[in-house]
Amino acid sequence: MFGLNKEINKSRAWKRLEKHAKKMRNVEMRDMFAKDPNRAKKYTLTLGNMTLDFSKNRIDEKTMPYLLGLAKEAKVMKKIEQMFKGEKINVTENRAVLHIALRNQKNTPIYVDGKNVMPEITKVLVKIRDFSEAVRLGKFRGHTGKKLTNIVNIGIGGSDLGPKMAVEALRKYWGKNIKCHFISNIDGTACAEVLNKLDPETTLFIVCSKTFTTIETLTNAKTCRKWLVDALGEPAVAKHFVAVSTNAEEVRKFGINTENMFEFWDFVGGRYSMWSAIGLIIAIAVGYDNFEKMLAGAYEMDKHFRKAEPDKNIPMILGLLSVWYNNFFGIRNHVVVPYDQYLTYLPAYLQQLVMESNGKFVDLDNKLVKYQTSPVVFGGAGTDVQHSFFQMMHQGTSFVPCDFIVPAISHNEIGEHHEILLANVLAQSEALMRGKTIKEAAEELKEAGKSKEEIALLKKYKSFKGNRPSNTIVFKKMDPYTLGMLVAMYEHKTFVEGAIWNIDSFDQMGVELGKQMALKILPELQGNKENAAHDCSTKALINLIRKLRK
Ligand code: F6P
Repeated sequence: MFGLNKEINKSRAWKRLEKHAKKMRNVEMRDMFAKDPNRAKKYTLTLGNMTLDFSKNRIDEKTMPYLLGLAKEAKVMKKIEQMFKGEKINVTENRAVLHIALRNQKNTPIYVDGKNVMPEITKVLVKIRDFSEAVRLGKFRGHTGKKLTNIVNIGIGGSDLGPKMAVEALRKYWGKNIKCHFISNIDGTACAEVLNKLDPETTLFIVCSKTFTTIETLTNAKTCRKWLVDALGEPAVAKHFVAVSTNAEEVRKFGINTENMFEFWDFVGGRYSMWSAIGLIIAIAVGYDNFEKMLAGAYEMDKHFRKAEPDKNIPMILGLLSVWYNNFFGIRNHVVVPYDQYLTYLPAYLQQLVMESNGKFVDLDNKLVKYQTSPVVFGGAGTDVQHSFFQMMHQGTSFVPCDFIVPAISHNEIGEHHEILLANVLAQSEALMRGKTIKEAAEELKEAGKSKEEIALLKKYKSFKGNRPSNTIVFKKMDPYTLGMLVAMYEHKTFVEGAIWNIDSFDQMGVELGKQMALKILPELQGNKENAAHDCSTKALINLIRKLRK
């Protein structure tokens, strides 16, 4: 019902782009800039305080119309409408996809199976508001009457990366005395290193798990529960543990009173859930008003995504550019570099968002796809990454499209720091685009007084091919509203890619096999069971590790 019933790579729109890409391989961005002083204006879009400059891409006046033709062919606008209307576009799990309902500020009804989901969402938002305020004001206190000032989020994947990224992004907005901690990895070190710093009397644990069956989260939660009970006794659990889940039964079984449970719903995917009660730690850290501002920012992006014309639609343009490089230039990576220390965890968050959503090889028509889907996403905060992988960005044999994320004002305007940071990001995007020809490199060496021999030796090493694309996303300051816009922008960009690739961006079956096999291997490692039918490498490794652990 949601499939395209045709292979998108056989469409006319796709073929036209293939032909066009061949031509564009030989077109230099620096020439296009030289010819057209209006290029930046032509390829800049603004929404509220956010501006996207996508002029430093390998596109000419035909490229965007052709890409938009592909979007039409893939029925992207129709699919957007289907999502917003609550249709079950997560086909393999037969679920609606309604993270957009969580920030539906107008409260307009959205129906799933004939039921308006908004009243339930509002009810939980009120619960989040009341509880986060009670913790912040010290009305909800720990078992011994002390204020709860250390908030520990226990969760993994979507139940960790979103809240962790947002809490760090908004660190400047944290309430006085509140400290946030995250335990995700099953590695005991993750638990130990957090718990070592904490006082049970002032610690609140939020156990976040959509399913409440995830082994990492449940194991970490059990360890934390024991740590608390050992110090304060069993009755303390009610004052120090809350849960966020869709699975009340498992929450009860775990020993958390369901009165202390915040609900969410199967129409919210894990990696799209920071807007739900999974974001409880965000609300406690920055206050409910700021949490709401974040939802409002996302809502602005939602409205834009749903209503803006495709050629003026920021997530649409970003998604199409990603498809352009991925499918027509054979590029397999995408880099995201925020020039804001507070956005350090954004690339990790985006890795799950993009790669778990779109790393698929079966399409919505139940056929194997014959083109490349998700790129590999990586990144890190600028300028740190300029001193690590940027060498490859500038002089590697292939190019990696890049998003630069730039707040004009820093929360920490100290001396010239932020201006130097800004100069760096602008220099990087310009350098990637312009490059430096061998001739230019030779001239520079000559001006620096190098000998003929030295110039001959060095000029190629010192040259840059350029023509390497990037998007620059500029906003005033990293505040809750802008964070909401930014994250929603990436969610919708991911949607556009998935819609074009005709895949289900909302399931994650690819993570199951490893989980199943780990459950088989565990008793073997523990020595309770003989080796099952493994390959000889896995068998030998199990035996080696057992021996080393004796
Ligand atoms: O990694 C697979 C996954 O199912 C993610 O999609 C999800 O975000 C994560 O595990 C955690 O799942 P849960 O919230 O159910 O514990």
